[in-house]
Amino acid sequence: MLIELEGVTKIYNQGQINEVVALRDIDLRIKEHTLNCLRGASGCGKSTLLSIIGCVIQPTSGRTAIAGLQPARMPDRFLTVHRRRCIGFIFQNYNILPALTVRENITLPLVPLGLSRRAMAERVERLLQQFSIGHRGNFPAGRISGGELQRVAIARALVNDPPPSSWQTNPRPISTAV
Ligand SMILES: Nc1ncnc2c1ncn2[C@@H]1O[C@H](COP(=O)(O)OP(=O)(O)O)[C@@H](O)[C@H]1O
Ligand SMILES: [Mg+2]
Repeated sequence: MLIELEGVTKIYNQGQINEVVALRDIDLRIKEHTLNCLRGASGCGKSTLLSIIGCVIQPTSGRTAIAGLQPARMPDRFLTVHRRRCIGFIFQNYNILPALTVRENITLPLVPLGLSRRAMAERVERLLQQFSIGHRGNFPAGRISGGELQRVAIARALVNDPPPSSWQTNPRPISTAV
């Protein structure tokens, strides 16, 4: 199983006047090599659930196992490495760095992985072609269209190309930076 959630609850601002129970007791199992769609009314907790699956935030309670590892049991620096290797995430607002070029934005997740310059360039060029944004490679990402930006965000989410065989192996910390 690629993703397993058991009894996951997420409470924002717990115990405060602005407390929000965003998820309550969620069980979810997702297999490898499947395409899944999560839908529901605005505010029902979709982004919260995806952030937990993406190991961006931790649940308030419950158990999660993502690509063979249990985030709650991992120190932050291991989780950072796990995220880099095994997860591609497209943020709702993209979180693309506008001053960097399109090519630099897509390359960014590869920098801490320790690949050669050539290997990085090959992957990035392949994605630029695949998403038909090669002609915008040297443009600052802040100067491209909304649709192009969307394609850059997808390319950046795929560039770490996580191999299924690495899911079960224990990631070693490379550095503590996110
Ligand atoms: N960081 C946060 N702090 C407090 N409340 C939040 C936070 N993020 C989301 N929420 C609240 O949690 C609920 C679920 O939000 P979210 O997961 O973004 O829903 P969806 O993506 O389905 O629209 C909403 O009521 C939202 O206002
Ligand atoms: Mg959302």
